[in-house]
Amino acid sequence: MMRQEMSPLLHAAQPLIDLAIAEDIGPGDATSEAILAADAVLTGQIVAKSAGVIAGLPVAEAVFRRVHPDIEFTACVDDGQEVVPGELVAEVSGPGRSLLAAERIALNFLQRMSGIATLTRRFVDAVACTSAAILDTRKTLPGYRVLDKYAVRMGGGMNHRKSLYDMILIKDNHIAAAGGIIPAVARARAARPDLPIEVEVRNLDELRQVLSITPPVERIMLDNMGLEEIHLAVSITAGRVPLEVSGNVTLEGVGEVAATGVDYISVGALTHSVKALDLSMEVGQAEEAVAPDLSSRVAEIKSMLGKRLVILGHHYQRDEVIACADFRGDSLKLARDATQTDAEFIVFCGVHFMAETAAILAKPGQHVLIPDATAGCYLADTATLEAVQAAWDILEAVFGDADAEFTPVTYVNSSAALKAFCGRHNGVVCTSGNATQVLRWALTQRPRVFFFPDQHLGRNTAKQMGIPLNEMLLWDVHHPPGPAAIRQARVILWPGACNVHQRFRPEHVTAVREQFPGVRVIVHPECKMEVVDLADDAGSTAHIIRQVEAAPPGTRWAIGTESRLVHRLQRDHPEQLIVSLADVPPFCRTMGQITLPNLVHVLEALAGGELVNEVLVDAETAHWARIALERMLELG
Ligand code: 13P
Ligand code: SF4
Repeated sequence: MMRQEMSPLLHAAQPLIDLAIAEDIGPGDATSEAILAADAVLTGQIVAKSAGVIAGLPVAEAVFRRVHPDIEFTACVDDGQEVVPGELVAEVSGPGRSLLAAERIALNFLQRMSGIATLTRRFVDAVACTSAAILDTRKTLPGYRVLDKYAVRMGGGMNHRKSLYDMILIKDNHIAAAGGIIPAVARARAARPDLPIEVEVRNLDELRQVLSITPPVERIMLDNMGLEEIHLAVSITAGRVPLEVSGNVTLEGVGEVAATGVDYISVGALTHSVKALDLSMEVGQAEEAVAPDLSSRVAEIKSMLGKRLVILGHHYQRDEVIACADFRGDSLKLARDATQTDAEFIVFCGVHFMAETAAILAKPGQHVLIPDATAGCYLADTATLEAVQAAWDILEAVFGDADAEFTPVTYVNSSAALKAFCGRHNGVVCTSGNATQVLRWALTQRPRVFFFPDQHLGRNTAKQMGIPLNEMLLWDVHHPPGPAAIRQARVILWPGACNVHQRFRPEHVTAVREQFPGVRVIVHPECKMEVVDLADDAGSTAHIIRQVEAAPPGTRWAIGTESRLVHRLQRDHPEQLIVSLADVPPFCRTMGQITLPNLVHVLEALAGGELVNEVLVDAETAHWARIALERMLELG
């Protein structure tokens, strides 16, 4: 399933596991040996106590097996997957004394690695709308370098050099010893022409010196520079050499640093200040571990409410949740399904904007409920009505009448307020399933399009329609473009992006083609243009499913979309070879917030005559949003 480099990880972990066992268990676990019968069999469940990203499951499994080879370890999630509090991470069962003796060591590894992955993911998410990558450093726990760096990758970060031997990094002390930047680079190049060279600079003078070197060095590190200086460095460098920012970058400040246009941001804190993810192991007798049958309860309530209830589920939902859905689909199909049902209660298993769309389209007397009202969408959150209105005001100032010049188009992944904005301004909504038809229509109405919030869907669609890149303008909220640039644009793109789909990179396409010759690469159009350009095909979630279903047995697929869907396709189509395009498959955290327990909670309340988590949209907003949505549904 996952294409990870298990062996180097386990190779590095093995001596650490032996050390930990010697340190913690030594000659034996006095307590368990005194209390448990030698033949007692136990089962344990490793459960998340707080939200985070899991990393280190292979190491945890290796710990249990090293302590007793008969312990069975079953991972319930993948490394790299986001978990919510209470979520089952893994199950273990086997000889009780050994299981208890191994528990702490396994958790120590898993909690530390998951803590690193969690913090990394927060940084990666904070820069998701930019092209900057998050890098680790060598500030790792001595001996744990491979494990720490693996965890960074599971968080979606990239690794900097492994050690001192695999890259030249010229710092101030080297420069002083060599008598200057130029001689330092010359010496390094002469001694090790096989290694990439990075040079650390502390000011713009040093930057200019490094930029004067030919051939150029592979990377320049801007050490401890302020935001203003970084901006200047980016414009001086003008893309000639990749730039890395290093030094005290915080989670709060990383977004602004990334927005300057630098290529890499290295963060020592990812591995030097680890906060372990809160995980625990709950142990019971093997026979007692019977989970309450929530699926049966859903079925009971469904039959009790009959036609009064319909459950809709998006393809990115958890397996146990989607199994309860009466209709499953991508966002376009679910929007249509919502208009076609007469059920009194629509329970929407998806993220908030999807349930909100159903609520806008609902008939009088219908109620739309969502199992977790906080299940938002990272992409939708990148555009607020206020920010879009401020941009529109600028367009108004440039053209005099923005309404005559622009058709506003909002991707369905947006708030009701933005859909209403489009309704008010003769605009329209689109989904990934109909973006081309919608954009084509929009350009027949007025000469230009203002597209939000997903820059990638907008760019990919416009490009595929033959609109050149120089007629597309990426809006900058903090530094809005000037009138000349605005007048040249046919399509203005909001700078939003999905943090899940942005994690697919062009090098993933290259790597998967090398690993699986003949593989067809198919991606969601929320991926970056560089990825879509390299792929064989791009399309909505439903399009991806249709292509896989229609392909002959033996077809090889690398799929660039959310991983729950990819895993489901793997299981449903064993006759084909299906892998995730990325080495660390990305999961949508907010889609995963809908769980069987919170679905049952909403249904139980319904069965008792109570509406919980009803999604409501005020009448004025719903009126205008419905106009933009219905225009879309008419178009295709
Ligand atoms: P679809 O329109 O393909 O369902 O995509 C919705 C979504 O949120 C993708 O990330
Ligand atoms: Fe939003 Fe991305 Fe999740 Fe889709 S995958 S719901 S766009 S965050």
